[in-house]
Amino acid sequence: MIYLDNAATTFIKPPSVYRAVQKAMLCASNPGRGSHQSALKAAGIVYDCREAAADLFHMDDPSRVVFTYNATHALNLAIRSIVQPGSRVLVSGFEHNAVIRPLYALQADVLIAGTKLFDPASVLDDFRNKIESVDSVVCTHVSNVFGFELPINGIASLCQEKSVPLIIDASQSAGVLDIDMDKLGAAFIAMPGHKALFGPQGTGILLCGRTGDPLLFGGTGSDSVNRDMPETLPERLEAGTMNVPGIAGLLAGIRYVRDIGTEQIHAREQKLMEVLIDSMSKIHGLHLYFDPAGFQGGILSFTADRLDSESVSEYLSQKGIAVRGGLHCAPLAHQSAGTADGGTVRISLSPFVTPEQLMSSCRILRDMF
Ligand code: ALA
Repeated sequence: MIYLDNAATTFIKPPSVYRAVQKAMLCASNPGRGSHQSALKAAGIVYDCREAAADLFHMDDPSRVVFTYNATHALNLAIRSIVQPGSRVLVSGFEHNAVIRPLYALQADVLIAGTKLFDPASVLDDFRNKIESVDSVVCTHVSNVFGFELPINGIASLCQEKSVPLIIDASQSAGVLDIDMDKLGAAFIAMPGHKALFGPQGTGILLCGRTGDPLLFGGTGSDSVNRDMPETLPERLEAGTMNVPGIAGLLAGIRYVRDIGTEQIHAREQKLMEVLIDSMSKIHGLHLYFDPAGFQGGILSFTADRLDSESVSEYLSQKGIAVRGGLHCAPLAHQSAGTADGGTVRISLSPFVTPEQLMSSCRILRDMF
């Protein structure tokens, strides 16, 4: 299989990740639940992963790294901590349902800023024009459909200037772009562990600029006589037994990213994008959504003249190529880009993709048209 669905999850992981998961299953039990060797081993893995994540995202305090089960869980925690029912929230025109659905569930008054694909200046202008009237901002860093890199530094500066709390969805950027929690000054940054950080599915991270409110209530292995959840992080937001094998794999994934560096990973994906766009541009009947100015991560969406996106992705799947068609759980992004009717076929990269795989996928696509 040629795996080109890395925006959904990075199925191909560094070998150290598989080894770490297996090793943790064999030697680590439940962190903070006992002082025997296997519990201490588990606690050590979890702490090391917190420290590695804090280091990668430029945070001094590892206790502000909270483990979640995915980015959706992290976003729900962040949104429930910041957004009051009925309050006004500004979002970009490229948000995933992991942002939009929790906001509607809270009956928030959702305002949209920035719907022009690959036009960061107009997105930032729109945020500037609308920020005065809102209570909070939730914004994706990179669109999961189009790879569009939103002007997150500018949006974060605006939020700091106006003292508006900011939640960032870093689902497609964590592990590929440098994210500096302290500089961004965000209230929360949510991310999956299983995408470009190369952890297993069932892992996520919430970076906390403030303490936040729990979604789940239960045992934390600490402060047990207290009827409420502990006041301090990370325990306040981490009830119940943690996914220790997943966190062990995530630790290996974060170390892999740290050893190579996000700059190198980004540069490799940019080179792969050049190969991909060059090969795909030669295929008649395709419409590619790409940004010549380069505000685009390793994600390329396209539509075909005669076929819907699901049929194209199904055809590719039969030929052993994994891509994703449809709306990618982000109908708002498709409305913004004008692709809501049928969605797009999405190719998404990782450093484990090779130029040869991309060229061979393009040959198969060419035969289809
Ligand atoms: N949000 C993930 C995607 O874009 C699952 O495919």
